[in-house]
Amino acid sequence: MARCLQLAALAAKSDVPVVLLGETGTGKTLLAHAIHNSSTRAGRSFIAFNASAISDTLLESQLFGHERGAFTGAQQTVKGKFELADGGTLFLDEISEMSPLAQVKILRVLEYGEFERLGSERMLTSNARIICASNCSLRERVRLGKFREDLYQRLNGLTLLIPPLRERVQELPALIAAELKAAGLKEGKNITAIHPEAMEKLLHHEWRGNLRELSHTVRAMTLFCNGSVILPEHVVFPPDLETDRTRTDNGKSVPVLGNNQPQNPAIDLSLTSAVRRHVRFVFEQANQNQRRAAKLLGISRSTLARHLRNVVPK
Ligand SMILES: Nc1ncnc2c1ncn2[C@@H]1O[C@H](COP(=O)(O)OP(=O)(O)OP(=O)(O)O)[C@@H](O)[C@H]1O
Ligand SMILES: [Mg+2]
Repeated sequence: MARCLQLAALAAKSDVPVVLLGETGTGKTLLAHAIHNSSTRAGRSFIAFNASAISDTLLESQLFGHERGAFTGAQQTVKGKFELADGGTLFLDEISEMSPLAQVKILRVLEYGEFERLGSERMLTSNARIICASNCSLRERVRLGKFREDLYQRLNGLTLLIPPLRERVQELPALIAAELKAAGLKEGKNITAIHPEAMEKLLHHEWRGNLRELSHTVRAMTLFCNGSVILPEHVVFPPDLETDRTRTDNGKSVPVLGNNQPQNPAIDLSLTSAVRRHVRFVFEQANQNQRRAAKLLGISRSTLARHLRNVVPK
């Protein structure tokens, strides 16, 4: 992480395009903001664009903007992300998920530095600094033919690999303390200590959701804690349907409540509630992207939508 931050500080001094690689919740978005805020562009805009969440039909108007009347419903002139980020930073999130069309369009601007708004012939230029983020290896995506090699070469000025939380064990106590302080303020609680067993639980957990999961877990334990010390039963991890399943004698797999579940009767231990928490958790992990969350959960988007509205589908 120290190496990563060193590189980030270097990147902030230059306009070199940066690729941030890291699992979900490792802090890519946060680091992109930090690079921008430490750069000479800090006073200009930081514009984020998540191409995986945008359909190809809306893509061009989102990237390049459109003139009034360019298409049905275009009631006013709108600037695109490249124009808005001129002189500032354009953060391309989840870049590995970009459609082939999006890749072509972005490559063109990066190569020629020019683009037009939809419905206009006027050439515009953008001097946006590009930072992109991905939670999978772009090189691998190129090898699989899912990502254009020429675009990859353009974007890859400096690659920063953000380590997952499970590799930052030494920092965990400090991160937990910082999150606890913040959560205490938000929840209006004065928590002064963590019971050693509670700390053990936190230190031995496999943080698949990384800092986001840590932050949510600490907030939840703050909520569950009525005194000034976090006890082991206050440490509750989001249910994981894979690891919480066990086998019965007849070989069928049944869901069970894992050891991590709290003994506190005030906490709802029902399966419905576990499913709801899991759906919420995956939705947050997917950055509130319904399409991705539904894919991760193996359910349709409409089923997911019903879960999110707390209507449990049949
Ligand atoms: N070094 C850090 N210290 C404390 N909190 C952090 C740190 N890095 C990230 N966080 C927090 O963790 C959460 C996840 O960070 P962020 O959204 O930047 O991750 P991400 O890698 O962009 O995730 P995703 O792949 O889902 O987009 C945020 O709430 C952020 O504030
Ligand atoms: Mg992010």
